[in-house]
Amino acid sequence: MKMLLIKNIKKLIQYEQEPVEQPKRGSQLSVLDTIDNAFLITEDGVIKAFGPMDRLDKYMERVSDNTKPRGLETLDAAGKIVMPAFCDSHTHLVYAGSREMEYSDKLRGLSYQEIAARGGGILNSANLLHNTSEEELYRQSVHRAWEIMSFGTGAVEIKSGYGLTPEDEIKMLRVAKRIGEETPLIVKRTFLGAHAVPERYKGRREEYVNEIINEMIPVIAAEELADYIDVFTEEGFFSVEDTDRIFNAGIKYGLRPKIHANQMSFSGGVQVAAKYGAISADHLEFTAKEEFEALKKSGTIATLLPGSTFFLEMEYAPARDMINYGLPIAIATNYNPGSSPSGDMKFMMALACLKMKLTPEEAINAATINGAFAMNLGESHGSIAVGKKANLLITKEIPSYEFIPYAFTTPLVDTLVMNGKVIGML
Ligand code: NIG
Repeated sequence: MKMLLIKNIKKLIQYEQEPVEQPKRGSQLSVLDTIDNAFLITEDGVIKAFGPMDRLDKYMERVSDNTKPRGLETLDAAGKIVMPAFCDSHTHLVYAGSREMEYSDKLRGLSYQEIAARGGGILNSANLLHNTSEEELYRQSVHRAWEIMSFGTGAVEIKSGYGLTPEDEIKMLRVAKRIGEETPLIVKRTFLGAHAVPERYKGRREEYVNEIINEMIPVIAAEELADYIDVFTEEGFFSVEDTDRIFNAGIKYGLRPKIHANQMSFSGGVQVAAKYGAISADHLEFTAKEEFEALKKSGTIATLLPGSTFFLEMEYAPARDMINYGLPIAIATNYNPGSSPSGDMKFMMALACLKMKLTPEEAINAATINGAFAMNLGESHGSIAVGKKANLLITKEIPSYEFIPYAFTTPLVDTLVMNGKVIGML
């Protein structure tokens, strides 16, 4: 039995006496339970106990009477906050190279769609990825995986979608799988073959959708490379009808839908996602009451990606209206080379507070427990509860949890604990 004791914690936040069984919605999002001057004990990678420091001696007496702990490791978290590691439920962090040249185009005034129409954007990344070996793609991507851990992320969803051929989509998903096997990160994988229509199918979008359905989904499912299926449902990308067909096919192979919906327009994406009981609908910059109602009925999590809204200089998703409507919302980074070259959940929380008017409590819930539910990890991750996985973030010495979104560039992470194992961070 391996035990870890974290003691003298200035504030333990986001703990649950009774773990919630569903993502937090509406007013539940402002509830953030905390204990001052606390301890937390993990055993074999699982949270075993926590409480105020004055109960620690009693707890330890009881433990040593029964099972004498061997190899007890102790961390002193005086002045520090302990919370669940972030759960980043929307990323594209497996990609080759970078696209800062498009950044210059963007600064000269070209829109995301204009850059894409010139062969930049997703097709540019697909080209780069095609010319990169699987080993090199792993090398570049695993670097980003460690980068996001250094920002405090413990669980992540990674999408394909820069392959756009059966071979390259599989290459991406294999790399994502390897990241989950060779780093401490918990990784969920999403097949996003319908991210853009590749050059070779220009003007023949339906035929590419056929290839996704007939050539890609069966192989990806057979190799168990994906948990979810996703579509970029947007003018110039994929239609509601395409999405309908792809979701139908994916569900037959056990892939649950996620969607890129309503990022640039009222695309109908939310409604089709709700129709198929998608676990999350992501982006949602263009949404109003009709979309809210569809999401509410299906229980789909509204995943907001303020990093790309910031980078593309658009209007933010109406998060406050969503919360007032009683929707469950999550925040994710959308880490990708085109619209959000950042995997920093703390920065996303800062944007969510400043630009979407979330409170720090709401932002923390959206970045932890609701992000976990958006990856079907809500029962094991995203909060501090007895029996849950010990995936914890120990902050540097900071005055309060409000300081996290407030000090938006100050390094936050002192130590990450993944499955009870201490991972030191700079
Ligand atoms: O979520 N919107 C589609 N996909 C990404 C951008 C991908 C890219 O530009 O490379 C997003 O914003």
